Amino acid sequence: MVCKTNSPLPLDVEAGKTYGWCSCGLSETMPLCDRSHRDRSDKKSVKFVAEETKRMYLCGCCETKTPPFCDASHCKLS
Ligand code: FES
Repeated sequence: MVCKTNSPLPLDVEAGKTYGWCSCGLSETMPLCDRSHRDRSDKKSVKFVAEETKRMYLCGCCETKTPPFCDASHCKLS
């Protein structure tokens, strides 16, 4: 797996809007999917709807067990 960071990534979201979190780590627009996974990974984006307008911190290491949210899995990476 190719991941961009080993820390959470901020994303400003709007209530009611749907977003696609990149689970493959290949996106150039992390933490959002840019469809780079096509033909390069079996992984796909994880869609979610923002419940409120705010800044969220999404997983940037692709190891989270609670996608798209950071669960501190990056702390276990070397
Ligand atoms: S680019 Fe990574 S899941 Fe789409």
